[in-house]
Amino acid sequence: MPTVTVSRERPQDAACDVLALPVFAGPVFGSGAKEVAAALGAELETLVEDGPLLGKRFTGALGEVVAITTLGKLPAKQVLFVGVGEKSEAKLAVARKAGAVVARKCGGAKTIATTVPQAFKGPAEAIAGAFVEGFLLASYRFERYKAKQEGKPNRVESLAIIGGKTLDTRKAKAAFERAAIVVDATNLARDLVNTPSGDKSPAFLAEQARALGGKGLKVKVFDETELEAKGFGGILAVGRGSAKPPRLVEIRWDPAGATKTVAIVGKGITFDSGGINLKPSEGLDWMKMDMGGAAAVLGVMKAVAVLKPKVAVRGYIASAENMPDGNATRPGDVVRHYGGKTVEVGNTDAEGRLVLADAIVYARERGADLIVDIATLTGACMIAVGHHIFGVMGSSKTDVRRVLDAAERAGEPAWELPLFPGYRSALDSDIADLRNITNKNIGGGAITAGLFLKEFADDTPWVHLDIAGPAKTDADDFERPKGATGVGVRTLLELVTSL
Ligand code: BES
Ligand code: MN
Ligand code: ZN
Repeated sequence: MPTVTVSRERPQDAACDVLALPVFAGPVFGSGAKEVAAALGAELETLVEDGPLLGKRFTGALGEVVAITTLGKLPAKQVLFVGVGEKSEAKLAVARKAGAVVARKCGGAKTIATTVPQAFKGPAEAIAGAFVEGFLLASYRFERYKAKQEGKPNRVESLAIIGGKTLDTRKAKAAFERAAIVVDATNLARDLVNTPSGDKSPAFLAEQARALGGKGLKVKVFDETELEAKGFGGILAVGRGSAKPPRLVEIRWDPAGATKTVAIVGKGITFDSGGINLKPSEGLDWMKMDMGGAAAVLGVMKAVAVLKPKVAVRGYIASAENMPDGNATRPGDVVRHYGGKTVEVGNTDAEGRLVLADAIVYARERGADLIVDIATLTGACMIAVGHHIFGVMGSSKTDVRRVLDAAERAGEPAWELPLFPGYRSALDSDIADLRNITNKNIGGGAITAGLFLKEFADDTPWVHLDIAGPAKTDADDFERPKGATGVGVRTLLELVTSL
């Protein structure tokens, strides 16, 4: 990651490869533009005029940029005018996106200085922090399977934030530090999700958890023998068809004096073939992402050890590989979950709820005032709220609100779906306590999945995040580079550090 500093220089004095300056819609030029124009002896408007190669007028819309060379008239080699959109909309969430734009356009530069954060309203340090967060999030690359770096380069070594009058250096540094921690956690989740399933088993995820041990975190892993002995029938049922045995992991942050315990439970299906109810082949390669919830839990716990929230945080990973073979669970089989509830497996592709059910009961038994599960649970949630938004459901109104507020602050779009009680009876089974899919054609698959999990959360306050849509993105999108997004890490960190 590049070094991020606060600079007290005037923009026209900054020696750097790229000097990034904000421009509001209009275009209305922001901080530093006047001084740069004077030094270059040019009119501001001519600097961003549509040239023959541009084709389109620069309007200052968010995402638009124009780069000009300074021809040695300024210490900066190039100036990048960065559209930040309407002045009335220039708030924290847009600062994060502007940071991402600068990162994406300046990947080839070694040194960057910028006044762009000065364009936004709000506490200057929080704004600068969000800008840096967006910059770092957008700088992510997954290149460990490539012989050499290709495509857009990422060579940035230093980013200097030129502070306005109100920017407090000490507070800004703290904000940059938090941004770096949060991004590092997100990137861990992204790396794990982007990793091909052939290289990630449940045991591999458990090893990732073990590697976080020490530093204030305690890690416990149940292997298949222990899962069998203790009756984790859901996790075992899903893992039965795979050559790679399942795992249940607990990662504990237990600070002295904590008065509240939050359990976060992640779905860790390292590959979801659908099992005997095999999925169609389209998009199957991306079922490597079905451990996105578990990856988020690992990211969160890594950051928790550094951010040291006051509340106790327990991360659980329910991990299996969902494969079809001679030992695989069959449609129609009955599973006995941890804690004793039985479930008739209507479809082996509704496997996430089976592994989560065990882990939720276990989390409750270990003590939790709030359980938040996070899972790439249903294709139906992608239809309900689209690919960018995660669904939020829960038994506790106040905690659902808390999660939605945390998501808003984190800049991760989230929307509540109702746990409509009228749908509950569609999960009734003739021979077991519950079925894992509905027995009626009622739609609302994200909701019925939530209602299934609610049975296991029982009376413990519980919130469910369905991240099937936003766990990956098919194209670069501001702070989300194409591929795994690490969604949920930032929201959950906001949540546990605000309780
Ligand atoms: N892992 C999938 C959900 C999913 C789909 C995640 C697409 C990401 C992208 C989950 O295990 C699943 O297969 N759900 C089924 C449930 C159905 C069988 C009730 C679904 O959504 O179709
Ligand atoms: Mn499935
Ligand atoms: Zn799945």
